[in-house]
Amino acid sequence: MIANQLKSLKSLTPKRFKARHIDTPAAIQIKPVRKNFTFEDVPRYWYDNNPLITHVMNAMSLTFPDGEQFFVDSVRAFREHYTDERQKQHIRGFIGQEAMHSLEHDHFNKYLKTQGYEQPVKGGTKLARYMIKRIQARKSAVDQLATTAALEHITAVLGRWLMTEQTLSRLDPSVRALWLWHGIEETEHKAVAFDLLQNVTGGDYLTRVRAMPAAVIELITYTAIYSQEFLKADGLLGRPSVYLKGLRELTRTGGMAKMLLPAILEYFDPAFHPWQDDDSKQVAIHKAYLLKLEAEAVSSMDVAA
Ligand SMILES: [Fe+2]
Ligand SMILES: [Fe+2]
Repeated sequence: MIANQLKSLKSLTPKRFKARHIDTPAAIQIKPVRKNFTFEDVPRYWYDNNPLITHVMNAMSLTFPDGEQFFVDSVRAFREHYTDERQKQHIRGFIGQEAMHSLEHDHFNKYLKTQGYEQPVKGGTKLARYMIKRIQARKSAVDQLATTAALEHITAVLGRWLMTEQTLSRLDPSVRALWLWHGIEETEHKAVAFDLLQNVTGGDYLTRVRAMPAAVIELITYTAIYSQEFLKADGLLGRPSVYLKGLRELTRTGGMAKMLLPAILEYFDPAFHPWQDDDSKQVAIHKAYLLKLEAEAVSSMDVAA
């Protein structure tokens, strides 16, 4: 009987820890697009007049120029790994998309600088650069790729959070296209670093998951520090109503924290794969909506001219 149980355990264990692969849906195209967003008349609290959430997202934006470059570098280190043309194309698409995100968030961060946030933008950019350099100096190329795959899971969930009516309607129209565009592309390329890592390590579970706790801690620490720096610049530091309003939004049904927490936990499932949630339909719907937004912006510029 014990022998039988052992036998069934043996057949279960490898299966339980076996990495799963799901192909990127055929409808998904990973292609970089140059946007050149410009920003004017952006309200100070551009996320639903909510200072905390606006500044959490402003803080995230500060990490993007250097953070996206880190993602690019860690994937580029293994660009010769694939021989398959579609996989090679995904790597090129990923590198191109992240490079564009870096540029556009740099524009946005420069705009923030002109809005009375010179100190938080300067300090936040410097700290993000320092944290990334430290990861690059301390971790092997494979572990850097694992960090990228972990952070890409987080940005993909943020993309899913952005591609909802409740979130989009809370974003001021002056910044809606930037965040939606970024969210859509994070979803499109959400499995590129993950698949590359699995391919390079032969699906090694530990290498993949041990990168997540450190990535989450660094991201939360950074965002907490720099959202406070932005609030300090506004003279709102320590005001309870600001935190209560922010917490209510973070924890609402479909709120950022409500979506991120279970998603981070699911990363530890041995069979996890980014495309187990197929949001390719959401991508198609929101790409069409983004085109509409951009066409409206152009026609309003024509009217103004
Ligand atoms: Fe990105
Ligand atoms: Fe990304």
